[in-house]
Amino acid sequence: MLNRSEQDLSEGVQAYLSRQENKTLLRFITCGSVDDGKSTLIGRLLYDTKLIFEDQLAALQSDSRKHGTAGESIDFALLVDGLEAEREQGITIDVAYRFFATEKRKFIVADTPGHEEYTCNMATGASTAELAVVLIDARKGVLEQTRRHSHIISLLGIRHVVLAINKIDLIDHDRAVFDRIVEDYCAFAEPLGFDQIRPIPISARFGDNVSAPSAAMPWYDGPTLIEFLEAITVPDTAIELPFRFPVQLAVRPDSDFRGYAGQIASGKVAVGDRVVVAHSGQQVGVKSILTANGQLSDAREGQAITVVLDDEVDISRGSMLSHPDARPLVSDQFQAHVIWFDRNTMVPGRSYILRTETMSTPASVTKLKHRIDVNSLALEAATQLGRNEIGVCNFSTQSPVAFDAYRDNRMTGNFVIIDRLTNATVGAGMIDHALRRADNVHLQAIDVTREARGELKNQKPAVLWFTGLSGSGKSTIANLVEKQLHALGRHTMTLDGDNVRHGLNRDLGFTEADRVENIRRVAEVARLMSDAGLIVLVSFISPFRSERLMAREMMAPGEFIEIFVDTPIEECARRDPKGLYRKAMAGNLANFTGITSPYEAPETPDLHLRTVEQDAEALARSVVERLIGAQFSGT
Ligand code: ADX
Repeated sequence: MLNRSEQDLSEGVQAYLSRQENKTLLRFITCGSVDDGKSTLIGRLLYDTKLIFEDQLAALQSDSRKHGTAGESIDFALLVDGLEAEREQGITIDVAYRFFATEKRKFIVADTPGHEEYTCNMATGASTAELAVVLIDARKGVLEQTRRHSHIISLLGIRHVVLAINKIDLIDHDRAVFDRIVEDYCAFAEPLGFDQIRPIPISARFGDNVSAPSAAMPWYDGPTLIEFLEAITVPDTAIELPFRFPVQLAVRPDSDFRGYAGQIASGKVAVGDRVVVAHSGQQVGVKSILTANGQLSDAREGQAITVVLDDEVDISRGSMLSHPDARPLVSDQFQAHVIWFDRNTMVPGRSYILRTETMSTPASVTKLKHRIDVNSLALEAATQLGRNEIGVCNFSTQSPVAFDAYRDNRMTGNFVIIDRLTNATVGAGMIDHALRRADNVHLQAIDVTREARGELKNQKPAVLWFTGLSGSGKSTIANLVEKQLHALGRHTMTLDGDNVRHGLNRDLGFTEADRVENIRRVAEVARLMSDAGLIVLVSFISPFRSERLMAREMMAPGEFIEIFVDTPIEECARRDPKGLYRKAMAGNLANFTGITSPYEAPETPDLHLRTVEQDAEALARSVVERLIGAQFSGT
């Protein structure tokens, strides 16, 4: 039993909690350049809304004296910049979500970094926000970073912007400067199509127009930042959108029970609803909805549930359930806006992992349609996307993906791009629309199989992939291997870089993008030839791990043999069979592998041939032995 005062307290807590529960929640993001005062502003918001505890405040006062940049007054940025490393460098890294509340509303703010390198975190923070506070240093005005971030938030579907012109105290609260910045920004942002841009002159450090109006700016009669954030109405769109349920897991504890677990991405569902499986089009009824806390009659966006269906259907991880009258798109080709984060540029033709709300699949950019200049928003021609650049690309995925256009549904219209070798997230995408051109092209079943073709030739198809520097001896060894195989009655074909570049690939040069495409094409040809039952010898520099991995995955398991023809570059340059090293070192040959263009040596090749230790004949024999093993030993 609770005593009287405990009961009072408990009722007080209950009342407090239910008051909090009934308040609406606004998610917003702050962005801008480094030093525009984001951390200070967030610290100020937390301080003014009294979410700072006494002990934190005491620590803050002493820290401000030690590290701060605000003299004797409190440096609010220190409150927010939690990481020691950040304090030392004076910049903010990673996204931090902060919670605060006023009498009228609850807020979650994503505090994201302004540094160039952290565009990735910014995009992450923005993807769930409804509003953005774009901070501008009144002394500096609209900077490239301001434009870049504004562009990104518009791509990510944010429709409301507060243009917080900060450090207004440092320009003597000058209205003319404020007006000019507002004009500049609005002119730039017009094509981005925000629903509203609300300019507010503030001083995060002194609190002017943050939660209280400022006596120093009688010319400003608009709302304070807090007043504006409290009052703005943003529709709760996710619940009004069509039902989308990405299946994360098929739950089958026994043969009688078949449940599908996941989190509802948008909309709602009820027991008795008919639902359709995106990939197959099969329809079934919802028999029950289970959660960790028991059964529900209906469920809505954001809830983690297990649905039990009234009939057997074929659903795997990666499928999506929807209502039959409002289905997502399913396609393996689409156009998307891409924000590239990685130091390594995005190259069309390269294989990446594309991860959507529902699934992960290998994918590549089939075409970079254009890059967008962040300053002018002009579309420009480009062959690759560098770090922090934004472009419009056509994608092709290995498996069909269920999705919506991003403008229709932020949850099911976005994806991230993952590097296959490093597993790093290298880009983010927003899908514009499916591409229809692949619609009427389906794979045709052919009765004579590749195995049958191989059998007739009395062999198993294989791809011997020789990689190494120019002049390393790839072609010499491949040539000897082919002669030996031929003598053994094997059916072979050699694809050599220099030769293929005279025909099929004569339109390609030696930029990174061209080399990626060079290898993609030759890998496709090698696959066709192995389908024909041949032993294919591919002799290309093939300098990038990603493309060699892609080639391996295109072939049947075990059929791809990566052979590293390992010759030190000094030795290649000494041999210099085509005089190219001499030219490259004299500066007369651009993008030359090993000199002005990289070579990524295989880390675990199937065969490692060291040409300075053994002669070519012996090395060729070791390749043949590896391929046909016992058959060959003894001859
Ligand atoms: S790859 O890098 O795209 O795989 P590929 O094997 O097709 O290269 O072609 C390499 C051959 O092109 C070399 O053996 C060399 O004869 C010739 N070549 C001409 N210019 C270059 C260059 N800049 N870098 C490398 N090889 C070049």
